[in-house]
Amino acid sequence: MLKENSLKGKNIIVTGGGTGLGKSMGKYFLELGANLIITSRKLEVLEKSADELEKETGGKVLPVACDIRKYDEILNVIEQSESKFGQIHGVLNNAAGNFISPTERLSHRAFDIVVDIVLRGTYNFTLATGKNWIEKKQPGTFLNIVTTYAWTGSGYVVPSACAKAGVLSLIRSLAAEWAKYKIRSNAIAPGPFPTEGAWERLFPADVAEKIDPLKRIPLKRFGDHQELANLAAYLMSDYSAYVNGEVVTIDGGEWINGAGEFNGLEAVPQEMWDKLEKMRSRKK
Ligand code: HXC
Ligand code: NAP
Repeated sequence: MLKENSLKGKNIIVTGGGTGLGKSMGKYFLELGANLIITSRKLEVLEKSADELEKETGGKVLPVACDIRKYDEILNVIEQSESKFGQIHGVLNNAAGNFISPTERLSHRAFDIVVDIVLRGTYNFTLATGKNWIEKKQPGTFLNIVTTYAWTGSGYVVPSACAKAGVLSLIRSLAAEWAKYKIRSNAIAPGPFPTEGAWERLFPADVAEKIDPLKRIPLKRFGDHQELANLAAYLMSDYSAYVNGEVVTIDGGEWINGAGEFNGLEAVPQEMWDKLEKMRSRKK
């Protein structure tokens, strides 16, 4: 979508960048000329992805293992990134943990595990990088991946909903506070985009059969990774230099469809509308 070299010379860290959406967005950043640092807990996964991405794009990828719940490990990612590429220009806070469960069946540790990855991990990464940029008087861009239920809430993924709401609040708050340091903060709220990580945890076959997530989406299809990557690259690039504190939804109209009182009337067939119209004209 963007012009060639739109991210030329930018060094971008993608958390959770070895799999799923993080890998797809990172690939497009590379195609647009960025250098990429990918980080998550599993080094073998990162190394394999880094290799693939370098071969596919001809770009440079540094894989660094890091559990984003641990502040020291994040400082190590920043140090390694700077020594390999120099100044960091952007952070895509994309790593997450999630699963479906009735809330009353969760242990407090299960609640902790999701909130710790999603909220603590994201504020840890944001704080560590933000301090680094402010101290060095460098501008920077944060882009955080949330979900549409960050503002509506959602049953059966309550720890994730609480944590994503916190992440959204984090970027909106910092958009106001850190703009004076030339640090921008934005978010993307994707609807369903098929990935192994999300599908195996959120839509296992038996469950998907019962709820059919496609039925909820007015465009009647899931998102394509490149569509998300296009938006992420724009928000990471200087083309969006005046966008700050925004969350952009990319969900085929899913959440608004669920919210509109009468959108369910989609199920009413044309013949029934004809019948209702006849009844109405007879009454006149
Ligand atoms: C209930 C569960 C559970 C489940 C784990 N737990 N899975 N409870 N239902 N399905 C509980 C365990 O019993 C344990 O509590 C505690 O959580 C920690 O479990 P561990 O397995 O030890 O955790 P760990 O190995 O660290 O794995 C973390 C994880 C895992 C979050 C559970 O799923 C993970 O690594 N996820 C990373 C990737 C991911 O989730 N990707 C999907 C993002 S998709 P006890 O009390 O027994 O000790 C996404 C999309 C949103 O966010 C929107 C879609 C439209
Ligand atoms: P995914 O492939 O499972 O991505 C999650 C990533 O987070 C993995 O690479 C995982 O790697 C990493 N991670 C988990 N815990 C971590 C930790 N403690 N420290 C560092 N990294 C950690 O799933 P995805 O679908 O691509 O999700 C990516 C993002 O999109 C998430 O924020 C998710 O909430 C969001 N999202 C996805 C969808 C969708 O439909 N797919 C919809 C809305 C929002 P390790 O296991 O190696 O640590």
